[in-house]
Amino acid sequence: MKFAVLTGGGDSSGMNAFVRAIVRSALNIRTETSVWGVLDGWKGLIYNDFRQLDKGSVAGIASAGGTILGTVRVPDLATDPILQESAARNLHDNRIDYLFVCGGNGSIKAAQSINALIKADKIKTKILCAPGSIDNDVCNSFGSSIGFYSALDKSHEMLEWIKDTASSHRRVYLIKSMGRDSAYLAFYSGIASGAEYVICPGEQVDYEYLATMIEERDRDTRIIVAEGYDQDLYTIRKTLEDIFKKRNVIHEIRTVDMSYFQRGGKAAVADILRASWVAYRMVKDAYAYADSGFYTAFYTGHAPTPIPLDIAADDSQTNHIGIPNEIIDFAIALR
Ligand code: F6P
Repeated sequence: MKFAVLTGGGDSSGMNAFVRAIVRSALNIRTETSVWGVLDGWKGLIYNDFRQLDKGSVAGIASAGGTILGTVRVPDLATDPILQESAARNLHDNRIDYLFVCGGNGSIKAAQSINALIKADKIKTKILCAPGSIDNDVCNSFGSSIGFYSALDKSHEMLEWIKDTASSHRRVYLIKSMGRDSAYLAFYSGIASGAEYVICPGEQVDYEYLATMIEERDRDTRIIVAEGYDQDLYTIRKTLEDIFKKRNVIHEIRTVDMSYFQRGGKAAVADILRASWVAYRMVKDAYAYADSGFYTAFYTGHAPTPIPLDIAADDSQTNHIGIPNEIIDFAIALR
């Protein structure tokens, strides 16, 4: 068989473990298989940029952050039929039996639209996708996307550092977290590090309440602001400062942006294992002629049940953005 592997969207730690496990499992299980890396993500598929991978070429990368294959965003791919057609054609012309993808919700949508073309054109390639994103906004009920726990570890460490200086100075810190429209990264890192408040996308924030909370604490306060919230850190700071001015009190406020630091660095063991396990399962299923599908990244040892790409790419069915009420209650209970 001939396999290709692609990492798409924003890089996330664990993508390299995924690539490594695809290559190693494929070549160890059947030596006659060839595995090709698609360079620079979806861009490489559109412009036919493939490189053959052997077991040596993926040595020592399991815990490395980023992706050795590269990933260049192609925002138009989800809607541009010419780009989709070019990607499907290259899969056909290169006689790829299976394309393995690790990426976020944009990648799943791209895979779904290319898969629809493949089916219509009777191209033999099947596409198997795994969730790879620090945002945890991919269809993965009961699981978590590859890279999420790595980004949480980094966030947790940064929040601890900020606590040191915040508590020394009795300051308020407004801290931005990545996550696009999803609050998972902000919320879970907030729970783990005991932050005082997390502002989520779409939230109607009661700033008078926040100001009172800061006053009553009268010591360090860390407020995490999820990327998808519609005000930047400076606007939030100004709002709070205006309230304090009116109340005739002084609280020093500082702002800090964790964003790109959250995405880089060594992968968490949970992500290495999950990425490797899902990749291994995909290869086994490919050798059993599985149909295209999306794999939830469950824990090692639990066979994932693939779901159709159409369902995985449909936001209305996957409810991937909202944080369940039970988790919100849990966070409030620990405050
Ligand atoms: O999707 C992952 C992510 O890191 C988001 O959290 C963020 O909104 C986005 O990528 C940033 O994208 P870029 O690297 O293109 O600036």
